[in-house]
Amino acid sequence: MDTKRDFPTWLNQAVFYQIYPPSFYDADGDGIGDIPGIIQKLNYLQWLGINAIWINPCFVSPFQDAGYDVADYYRIASRYGTNRDLYKLCREAHRRGIRVCLDLVAGHTSIEHPWFKASSRRRRDKYSDRYIWAPSKESHNDTGLSPIPGYADNGDSYVANCFDFQPALNYGFAVPDQSWQQSVDAPGPLEMRKELVKIMDYWFDHGVDGFRVDMAFSLVKNDPGRKETIKLWQEISRDISAKYPDMVLISEWGNPEESIAAGFDIDFMLHFGVNGYPDLLLNEDCFFRRKNNTNIQAFLKPYLDVVEKTEGRGLISIPSANHDIKRPRADGRTLGDLKVIFTFLLTWPGVPFIYYGDEIGMRYIPGLTSKEGGHHRTGSRTPMQWDNTSSAGFSSADKAAFYLPLDPHKNRPSVEKQTGDSASLLNHVRKLINLRKQHPALQAEGILIPLQVETEHHHFAYLRKANDERFLIIINPSAESSRVRLHELQPENIKTQVCQGLEVHVEQDDLEVRMAGVSYGVFKL
Ligand code: NOJ
Repeated sequence: MDTKRDFPTWLNQAVFYQIYPPSFYDADGDGIGDIPGIIQKLNYLQWLGINAIWINPCFVSPFQDAGYDVADYYRIASRYGTNRDLYKLCREAHRRGIRVCLDLVAGHTSIEHPWFKASSRRRRDKYSDRYIWAPSKESHNDTGLSPIPGYADNGDSYVANCFDFQPALNYGFAVPDQSWQQSVDAPGPLEMRKELVKIMDYWFDHGVDGFRVDMAFSLVKNDPGRKETIKLWQEISRDISAKYPDMVLISEWGNPEESIAAGFDIDFMLHFGVNGYPDLLLNEDCFFRRKNNTNIQAFLKPYLDVVEKTEGRGLISIPSANHDIKRPRADGRTLGDLKVIFTFLLTWPGVPFIYYGDEIGMRYIPGLTSKEGGHHRTGSRTPMQWDNTSSAGFSSADKAAFYLPLDPHKNRPSVEKQTGDSASLLNHVRKLINLRKQHPALQAEGILIPLQVETEHHHFAYLRKANDERFLIIINPSAESSRVRLHELQPENIKTQVCQGLEVHVEQDDLEVRMAGVSYGVFKL
């Protein structure tokens, strides 16, 4: 039986914006972005057309992994403000028609979390089974879990989820095969589930609209086909949506077939998992590169396959980037290239997520010293560039105190520079968002009909449809000009919405399209 609830209807029109809080806007002048800073920039997001935000973890943490190492799920980290600031953010965002989603690190905590400290003591208490402890004397090579020694009073080792300092919370094992592995319905794992729901309830009660769940696939261990993890999320999402029907659950899973069955409303196509994201935006030979003669198929085939398996029950997001991967403005891509990319992302089905700064084409900065466990990811986390001053309008602090250095480029893009320029990337993105919000055909559930997907071509054309509206989108990321004849479209009247470098002529029932290199167009037929 399919128990998935319907996803909230507001998602159809949603355009998300991801905020990495220490780098967005610093309101108190300490060099680190904060929640009052986000509040001050809500007008900008509203102007852009954004109607939902996702904020990376903002809870108490030692920040060994930028907050993905939580030490208190119920309290905002002091460097970002207070719980009251967060409640205010929700109120102020709602006044502007913007929903607020937090990042829920459901699978692990920091080693600094009081639960972990209590759990590692010899004396048994209610936290003893909150983490997964294995006797250190045994060899665990065959479990694939490599427990980490050196913390517990009694010499046991804990299972970590990602970095060593991120001990996995105990949701049990689907198939326990060692004495120290508890089943999913053992008292410890059941308590942990309750706590997870309590955390979610707490923030929903204070005005939060949803969660992006970190490594949502990882909760139950030894879980073939993720069956028990799916069951766990089905139960949680069912209970929570009965209470908060408009809330949204977004998974970091990378496998929509599983995550949507588990009750998530949106899953990301990412740099990992079963999808073609790397072939679209990341790989050296991906579709969105000037030089390649790569066609869209490597992305489109897995994408359509996943859509077929999930249609109507949940949505897929292709983000512009996130805090874990390179920004699209990397490896020599120009603002012109980004216009082609955003034309695609903002006219594609599912839910677009714009990573802060991508809307102005902020660069990925290679070679930065790793910050808070960022390593190569640090280059995607530099301060937002608001204006043309030497601080980029990010903070009034001395630049030496900035969370990370600014893009050193003399000609770095900024919101100020691009707002007044009607041909800028920022205004292009804004125009496309507004177009999307006005036309169901371009929204999450509008029908997609791929048209020009022959393997020898580097361009791509597709239709989006809903009710009696039809849009034709044509993109050519290649530096080479090209032409194509699109058959039997029978256009009555072609209205250009946005266009750069394309010429379209009606020839009987067909459309004859000439494309300059790096060109795009959105047409209402
Ligand atoms: C995925 C997050 O996106 C990433 O930033 C983090 O390091 C790991 N999960 C561990 O929580």
